Amino acid sequence: TVPEIRIYEVGPRDGLQNESKFVPTEIKTELIHKLANAGIKNIESASFVSPKWVKQMSDGSEVMKSIKRVQGVNYPVLIPNLKGYETAKGCNIEEIAIFPAGSEGFSQKNLNCSVEEGLKRFKLVADQAVKDGIRVRGYVSCILGCPYDGPISPKAIAKITEELFAMGCYEVSLGDTIGVGTAGSVRKLMREVLSVTTPDNIALHFHDTYGQGLSNLLAGLEFGIRTVDSSISGLGGCPYARGASGNLATEDLVYFLYGLGVNTNVDLVKLIEAGRYISNFLAKPTESRVNRAIGDK
Ligand code: HMG
Ligand code: MG
Repeated sequence: TVPEIRIYEVGPRDGLQNESKFVPTEIKTELIHKLANAGIKNIESASFVSPKWVKQMSDGSEVMKSIKRVQGVNYPVLIPNLKGYETAKGCNIEEIAIFPAGSEGFSQKNLNCSVEEGLKRFKLVADQAVKDGIRVRGYVSCILGCPYDGPISPKAIAKITEELFAMGCYEVSLGDTIGVGTAGSVRKLMREVLSVTTPDNIALHFHDTYGQGLSNLLAGLEFGIRTVDSSISGLGGCPYARGASGNLATEDLVYFLYGLGVNTNVDLVKLIEAGRYISNFLAKPTESRVNRAIGDK
């Protein structure tokens, strides 16, 4: 049997950041409310990156100030630098996520600096957050391949993971930003990463670009991983990773876990309704296969 799995929803941030049509603050807020109402306990709700880089996320402060927070629900935000951290701190946040790249090419495109320089900048943010008593989560992106540099060595990813823990991260989420990984490459990476840490500190963040999300996840769960990132309706992608598309859909994840006998305490009907709400607003079909199959009934 598989013990409890912690679902970390990234739809309001990763899901929406790649959308070209601006999603008004009220719609973002309502989506977050619907996710919490469906029983999701971790909702990455905004990012405080440069509005010159990602305009869609420019209303992070308004979003964080207008959501009605539910007790027991965690609302982390994505932070690129001290400037973003200071703004976020004004919004009564309890958890931030920092996001060094696993490859040089993507670091330059996404953060406009080298991997090493990125780690230095994120350390300044993490130091301040730790001082302020704010939890820090770390992402490593391009763990299984980079749109600019190609395949990435698992050793390099394990090293960045270690550095994030040394900065005080309570958890590191390994991101297959462009969804090129397979169960085979996930296994190789897991062996390397689990030589520097234990599975309870690791989360998996799969983009489903090549349709490998759930099989990659199953490969990870076999190593004892217990936290999974997913996005409502399968939205997602990074504007600075060529070819990046949607994350593993939360509806598909919940259905999959149900089949494994894992009680997620998520109401799938309400979740499907949340997925419909945002895909209707975006005027496009849901990317979640489960949402399509059940929602149409
Ligand atoms: P830069 O242009 O080198 O930085 O960008 P800068 O310091 O020269 O700033 C440029 C302008 O932005 C300045 O304004 C700054 O004040 C402003 P100006 O002086 O020209 O008027 N600025 C800011 N404004 C508000 N908040 C801020 C901020 N910072 C600067 N925080 C920078 C460097 C890191 C800022 C930029 O590259 C950036 O914002 N990058 C983020 C890109 C991004 O959000 N990507 C998507 C998230 S990552 C992802 O999706 C992957 C993940 O899901 C995991 C996975 O899938 O694997 C996490
Ligand atoms: Mg992502």
